[in-house]
Amino acid sequence: KKRLAVFCSGTGSNFKALFHAIIERELPAEIVLCLSNRAECGAMDFAKEYGIEAIHLSESQFDSHDEFASAMLEALRNRQIDMILLAGYLRKIPDAVIAAYPEKIVNIHPSLLPEFGGHGMYGIRVHEAVIASGETRSGATVHFVNEEYDKGRIIKQNHVPVLPEDTPESLAERVLRCEHRLYPDALEQLLDEQMP
Ligand code: GAR
Repeated sequence: KKRLAVFCSGTGSNFKALFHAIIERELPAEIVLCLSNRAECGAMDFAKEYGIEAIHLSESQFDSHDEFASAMLEALRNRQIDMILLAGYLRKIPDAVIAAYPEKIVNIHPSLLPEFGGHGMYGIRVHEAVIASGETRSGATVHFVNEEYDKGRIIKQNHVPVLPEDTPESLAERVLRCEHRLYPDALEQLLDEQMP
């Protein structure tokens, strides 16, 4: 079984979808760690409720970026993590961690990348930008994380319509429901590809 770490910053609905899908589909993986930059959030509560180790790790706890990166690497190595799933983790992963886990860090983004990605493009801002642009389609993307923010190789995408009456909030909801199907499907595909 692959040992997974899930990184979160908020509600953690994608984390929950992944957790339940792993059990229901009997995927050869186990979420052994939830790491959050916030001491308290929905994701951390969920982890504790289900007996998954939850750790709060934030750059503000350290004197330097390098020390933060080293602590993150140590946390991952100590737990023999095989793969890292970012699920609403709204911080950049330190380059040293990305370099140590090439094509082992996966992110979900609430747009059809390469559109509406990049620095500052997260959460509701993405949906505001999509509506402002007049697009009639949006969706979600699961991709590998590399040093270029939101630019790693795309693993899987799903799209949803943008309706004329949509607000950023209604579009966010539709995209999030799409994410809850997409992320488990992408994980299943990755596990299939990586199994000997
Ligand atoms: C999701 O829509 C996810 O795609 C987005 O944050 C939300 C987290 O929801 N991530 C980003 O914008 C990353 N750039 P969740 O905590 O309920 O899974």
